[in-house]
Amino acid sequence: MNVAPAAFPRSRPRRLRSLPALRRLVAETRLSASQLILPLFARPGRRERRPIGSMPGVFQLSVDELLKEAETAFKAGVPGVILFGIPASKDSRATGAYARNGIVQQAVRALRRELPDLLIVTDVCLCEYMSHGHCGLVEKGPRGPVIRNDPTLALLARTAVSHAEAGADLIAPSDMMDGRVGAIREALDKSGFTDTPIMSYAAKFASAFYGPFREAAESAPHFGDRRSYQMDAANGDEALREVALDIQEGADIVMVKPALAYLDILHRVKSEFRLPTAAYAVSGEFSMIKAAAARGWIDERGATLEALLSIRRAGADIILTYSAVDVAGWLKAGA
Ligand code: PBG
Repeated sequence: MNVAPAAFPRSRPRRLRSLPALRRLVAETRLSASQLILPLFARPGRRERRPIGSMPGVFQLSVDELLKEAETAFKAGVPGVILFGIPASKDSRATGAYARNGIVQQAVRALRRELPDLLIVTDVCLCEYMSHGHCGLVEKGPRGPVIRNDPTLALLARTAVSHAEAGADLIAPSDMMDGRVGAIREALDKSGFTDTPIMSYAAKFASAFYGPFREAAESAPHFGDRRSYQMDAANGDEALREVALDIQEGADIVMVKPALAYLDILHRVKSEFRLPTAAYAVSGEFSMIKAAAARGWIDERGATLEALLSIRRAGADIILTYSAVDVAGWLKAGA
């Protein structure tokens, strides 16, 4: 932008801020409930609503309760949910992730039956189903345990196909193994799900902001951390390479995660690839606002809407957020 100041001697930007209707008219970015996806945690049982201490208002839900929550969201104008599972038991091969009657598969079938117009997204990862809490198969190495890449791909692909068979509309791999988008695309195609799109967590960073989620999904790694597969917060160029690879392998939507601390990455990804781009406003982003609001230190509604609008402005077409239902309500009320 090259504007000589003298060319606009009478420019007064405040003119366009003087009335609410004018401000709305010139708003460059809009936030709408139709852009939001609500994450939900499915657990076994009936009539179970287990609160998650670090995420006020978020629960682990048995499938019957999850149906109610999804219906509330859908009626509020939120088009879709993304499902995570807390299985009854875990093992070293994550069998619960791809079991025909696994917890996510059950939840998908129930949602499909009861809410035919709801968009059902499933998170594909193994950490919630692994006894050790890592996103891939673990093997002993000379310097301690290592997360194996290639043998993990088959399990991820199986998981994705089992979600599609149950009725998932959009498959979202979050494991960060190399080559998983290609492996999942191939497996879906072979099983006849050529029309099921993939939203890949393409640039997913090893982040301290996932802390509350790990309580929610009971998926904290029992040893080590995720730095050998999730990205280093220092790296922006590498994020573009990760996204490019996922697109080559068949990703239809690419995601950046977390959102707020990575707005630069989001902007670069959107400008570079112009693909439908999602951002995950992760658990820590949610809990920070909740915690400050509970102390009266911050206005929850204002801070939440501002954060999400910033994520949109940076380039996100789609936002995954635990605040989706509240936001839909606030927007309807004319926020
Ligand atoms: C699973 C997964 C995680 C999140 C989404 N999928 C946790 C992790 O990678 O440890 C985090 C979501 C959040 O913090 O809200 N791999």
